[in-house]
Amino acid sequence: MKYIAAIDQGTSSTRFIVFDHQGQIAAVDQKEHKQYYPQSGQVEHDPMEIWIRTQEVILNALQKSGIHPSEISALGITNQRETTVMWDRNTGQPLHPAIVWQDTRTDEICQELAKKGGQDRLRDKTGLPLATYFSGPKIKWLIENVPSVADAVKNGTALAGTIDTWLIWNLTGGKNGGLHITDGSNASRTLLMNLQTRQWDDSLLELMGIPASILPEIRPSSQIFGEAHGILEGVPIASVLGDQQAALFGQTCFAPGEAKNTYGTGCFMLMNTGQKPVPSNNGLLTTFGYQLENQPPVYCLEGSIAISGALVQWLRDNLGIIQKSSDIEALARTVDDNGGAFIVPAFSGLFAPYWRSDARGVIVGLTRFVNRGHIARAALEATAYQTREVLDAMRSDSGIDLQSLKVDGGMVVNDLLMQFQADILNVPVTRPKVAETTSLGAAYAAGLAVGYWKSLDELRAKWAPEKTWSPVMSKAVREKLYSGWKKAVTRSFDWIQE
Ligand SMILES: Nc1ncnc2c1ncn2[C@@H]1O[C@H](COP(=O)(O)OP(=O)(O)OP(=O)(O)O)[C@@H](O)[C@H]1O
Ligand SMILES: [Mg+2]
Repeated sequence: MKYIAAIDQGTSSTRFIVFDHQGQIAAVDQKEHKQYYPQSGQVEHDPMEIWIRTQEVILNALQKSGIHPSEISALGITNQRETTVMWDRNTGQPLHPAIVWQDTRTDEICQELAKKGGQDRLRDKTGLPLATYFSGPKIKWLIENVPSVADAVKNGTALAGTIDTWLIWNLTGGKNGGLHITDGSNASRTLLMNLQTRQWDDSLLELMGIPASILPEIRPSSQIFGEAHGILEGVPIASVLGDQQAALFGQTCFAPGEAKNTYGTGCFMLMNTGQKPVPSNNGLLTTFGYQLENQPPVYCLEGSIAISGALVQWLRDNLGIIQKSSDIEALARTVDDNGGAFIVPAFSGLFAPYWRSDARGVIVGLTRFVNRGHIARAALEATAYQTREVLDAMRSDSGIDLQSLKVDGGMVVNDLLMQFQADILNVPVTRPKVAETTSLGAAYAAGLAVGYWKSLDELRAKWAPEKTWSPVMSKAVREKLYSGWKKAVTRSFDWIQE
């Protein structure tokens, strides 16, 4: 058979991409879904809309390309992580909108849990700090606050999962025998999985008041799980990876010390640390990377940044100073520098390396000199500074000095940002030829499971650089800008009062 396909269900859109044996794109379609902001700090998606968009992009891509499902050897699934869905196994209907990873409604739950033992009390077991970002507290919130969820849990009809789980359940028959599964890369983001055993942990479930029966079975990331029904009838579903781990896989970071940074809605740097979880002392996450069938798991250090491309969208949608995201580069180029302005986009608090839910966004350094161009520039720079903070933490935790950074995601088409990124890191930054690394990684993992591709070495040989940005900024300028950023960050702290 000719192809491997992947569904990439992201925070802002869903893509379906069909790859050929070279790893080149043979067909693609993409659709956005609606973002709901019911209250300040809350973000929701409609799980049914996501399932409908998923089917639409599959159908469109097949129709446009003339590819038939019988030509597809396997399907991989990759997804926005942590976003939590609960539904009824008998009706197939969601019991509540999906609570998105950026949603901060579980702040009180997290603070309450942290009272005994502090924010890092679960780090030994889970690799994570207690934070609103993760799924477990979202499930706890649903059970405690939504009567229909509590009833369904009591009656044994409730199912819970992240978006991978929701899609696979629907793809494999839904209420007529749908599979209720996930993989470690998604399960490790719940605060409910033990990183060592890679299973749900009884004491964590008890702590959060979540019965194991509503949770999916944790499987390896690459394995034939079952066959799709409906529009992809008969195609084996053969991989599941959270989007960031999929991008790591698509960038072929298979060896310890290899790292990538993905610039999308948020920004996520992952470094492969091999077969042992490496604890972080600098505010990073210790997380599951991927696991191939019959192979040991691979772990990662991760620096998660909640808002990067989303700040560009905010300038577009909330301030209206640009029409489309790509306009930001031209606007930023109307000025030579940030004019002294810094934007700290702590819209959902700050993630790595701070984990401060009390922070909110600030724009500082304003004078009458500062104009739209400076604001555009400061918005792009914010992503680069946040990445520098994460890279510094990664150096300290891993003891590895990265010689270059592999990048991908929607923002890496922005030359100004990529040059500034290389400058502020003082490390070269390289974009690969296939920039759709998230889908590619899911496809690679699925292709390995069915023998379409034979080995990691075969995949590694396909990776090719397309463009590299080398640092040109003087040390003095770099350190002045970065210390300005550090000071700006402190101004975002302690904004939300209890
Ligand atoms: N030229 C550009 N300059 C800066 N930012 C851009 C540019 N083009 C797109 N973006 C930003 O990139 C982001 C989209 O990137 P991408 O498609 O990788 O997102 P994503 O994170 O995969 O989405 P999802 O969250 O749905 O997975 C948007 O936030 C958008 O504002
Ligand atoms: Mg994405």
